[in-house]
Amino acid sequence: MLIAQSEEAFRPVRAPFVPVVITDKPAISVVGLGYVGAVTCGCLGGLGHRIVGVDIDPVKVSAVGEGRAPMHEAGLDALLQDAVTTGLLSTTGDLAAAVAETDVTFVSVGTPTAMDGGCDTRFIEAVADGIGAALRDKDDFHVIVLRCSVPPGTTNGVMTRRIAEAAGKRAGVDFGVAFVPEFLREGAAVEDFHEPPKTVIGATDPRTAATIARIFEPIEPDPLLTEVETAELVKLVDNVWHATKVCFANEVGRLSKSMGVDSRSVMDVFCRDTKLNLSEAYLRPGFAYGGSCLPKEVRAVSHLAGRNGVSLPLVDSLGRSNAVQIAEALRLVRATGARRVGVLGLAFKPGTDDLRESPILEVMAELTADGVALSAHDRAITGRAPLASQLAYVRHGAGGLARLARTLPQMLRDTPEAVIAESDAVIVVHADPAYRAALAGVAMPVVDLVGLFREEGSIPGQCEGIGW
Ligand SMILES: NC(=O)c1ccc[n+]([C@@H]2O[C@H](COP(=O)([O-])OP(=O)(O)OC[C@H]3O[C@@H](n4cnc5c(N)ncnc54)[C@H](O)[C@@H]3O)[C@@H](O)[C@H]2O)c1
Repeated sequence: MLIAQSEEAFRPVRAPFVPVVITDKPAISVVGLGYVGAVTCGCLGGLGHRIVGVDIDPVKVSAVGEGRAPMHEAGLDALLQDAVTTGLLSTTGDLAAAVAETDVTFVSVGTPTAMDGGCDTRFIEAVADGIGAALRDKDDFHVIVLRCSVPPGTTNGVMTRRIAEAAGKRAGVDFGVAFVPEFLREGAAVEDFHEPPKTVIGATDPRTAATIARIFEPIEPDPLLTEVETAELVKLVDNVWHATKVCFANEVGRLSKSMGVDSRSVMDVFCRDTKLNLSEAYLRPGFAYGGSCLPKEVRAVSHLAGRNGVSLPLVDSLGRSNAVQIAEALRLVRATGARRVGVLGLAFKPGTDDLRESPILEVMAELTADGVALSAHDRAITGRAPLASQLAYVRHGAGGLARLARTLPQMLRDTPEAVIAESDAVIVVHADPAYRAALAGVAMPVVDLVGLFREEGSIPGQCEGIGW
């Protein structure tokens, strides 16, 4: 995928927010009349917009122009037929003409896999150059909406940059660009257009965002407005999540069958849990999982499957993924160069004194082996509380953990301030407001494993997290 080297230079101007009143239904050109574009033509026509469909394939130009879907898609023929009959929909092979006679251009050309496995943006590039050339002769503010699935950076680094170059105009001022991911599913595309799982708008400027929000208003009165790159990545992450769900359910199926258990019943019960299973729970980037249950049960399921001759690559990979998260925390702490490190939060989560498989202990064991001096605070684990049973668990861990169990009691301090006072850098392991307060005026490197200081400049020290 080709992202411009000087991408920053083409970052659109962030115009000050000016409330925009958009009274008319803008005329819309739709470039690319494949699965996404043809559905867009029919559905936007159904919402009363004047639509001009554009494709380089004359067969699709003819089909859509005659009110026929170029592929099988429930309900689409009728929508296209209606739009053509009412005079709202026409098609052409002439991109420049389509841009000239419309206010907004939706781009839905293909983004196939490139030879190197990345995203082939050639079709987007060609369309961007064509739109830019057309805008050279157009005085009105034109809005371009990219609907293709693309890697983050493509909208601004490829689409916007090429349009600006070809048009000799400024993004966010003379024209606006937005990435609006398409979430339709083939086979239910018309239904999904009218009832999308969400509507996400990442726009270069408020005027563009307002124009697009107005177009989608009949379907989604409350769209999610976000950064362009966030909108781009959401689409990819969504699809990876859906693929993860498919593979997870299939692994449960294979495991269940090998044990004579009805997988459908297992997943029926699983899906009834909307508190922890089908919910936001566990879905925020943070630190590694740990504690007395997750690591043990993941190992148990892998073992069961192995014993039954069942391959579960997804489940088997979880421990490796978790180890990478722990290694990344260690790398960030080592990168500070600090020889005295404070640890704020010890247990695998706040509110418990359970140290079993707490992932921060692995980091601490490695730092101890490096000769780094450690001090630590945890609300639930103080020098005064009996620690013997917790330490017994730690002692039975791998070599480094056993050594850590001997020295851990001496590392404990009563307050976060005491830890900070004797440290050159700190690791924040729990999202505890007391840690926020204690670090508020302190200029030292902070490795934030829980996103307590995600807002830039929220503490004076240099702060870095694993996923942000
Ligand atoms: N198909 C889906 O279910 C789906 C869902 C969500 C997002 N997407 C994304 O939407 C994009 C389009 O997908 P699709 O399945 O509709 O692709 P598609 O291959 O069916 O259609 C792409 C169309 O673009 C046309 N085209 C190519 N270059 C052109 C140019 N220079 N000018 C005009 N037309 C041109 C092609 O002739 C083709 O008709 C892709 O990025 C895809 O990842 C697809």
